[in-house]
Amino acid sequence: MRLDKFLCDMQLGTRSQIRESVRKGLVSVNGVPVKSPDHKVDEKRDSVTYMGEALTYQCFYYYMLHKPAGVVTATRDRREPTVMGLMSDARGKDLFPVGRLDKDTEGLLLVTNDGELAHRLLAPRKHVEKMYYVECTGVLTADGIASLESGVDIGDEERTLPAKVRLVSQTENAYVMELAITEGRFHQVKRMVQTVGGSVTYLKRLSMGTLTLDAGLPKGSYRPLTEKELLDLRSCAD
Ligand code: URA
Repeated sequence: MRLDKFLCDMQLGTRSQIRESVRKGLVSVNGVPVKSPDHKVDEKRDSVTYMGEALTYQCFYYYMLHKPAGVVTATRDRREPTVMGLMSDARGKDLFPVGRLDKDTEGLLLVTNDGELAHRLLAPRKHVEKMYYVECTGVLTADGIASLESGVDIGDEERTLPAKVRLVSQTENAYVMELAITEGRFHQVKRMVQTVGGSVTYLKRLSMGTLTLDAGLPKGSYRPLTEKELLDLRSCAD
């Protein structure tokens, strides 16, 4: 690959800034300053340094974001703050959120620039499980649980696929449950709860496939996935 593309993928500046740096001799390949931006490098074998600092080539980046309420799941929006606004200092070109959480939903959001993995995780036929912590008003009956577990009519062409329900607590007119679904329809959890006579008051995504929200990650923060998290996630979308 061209040296300027290598450096651009590493987010060392705009293409013209990078060319300028190369021409100034700030970049070395295998210990030798290279002044031509179209010099070819082997990203796996060559050792590239920028101002003396060694660069390991990476073009795909994977982050776990703890989405807070109040930001929209979009790369940009004219009116509302976005999840990507929380990640302006993250490395990686063209990052985007995988799937969508509502503005008032919190929890796990995967952010990457790996379109292929994102596509596989979201493909309906893969049935990747998403687990939500759900606080609701209303009463969840045994019949309600059975309906959610077998699939409900939320007004779409097809009923929802069977979900897993774990009732966490219940008072006279409110309940908390964990709900695992394998689809990603618009407002799906909220609409499913409506069909059993409840209303969601708080929603948080806990996991997506094998990837679980890090309990130590503060709301609004992000961190790169570990190697194991990424390997596991890849294999659950295979
Ligand atoms: N289901 C919803 O209703 N909202 C979300 O944000 C995610 C799933």
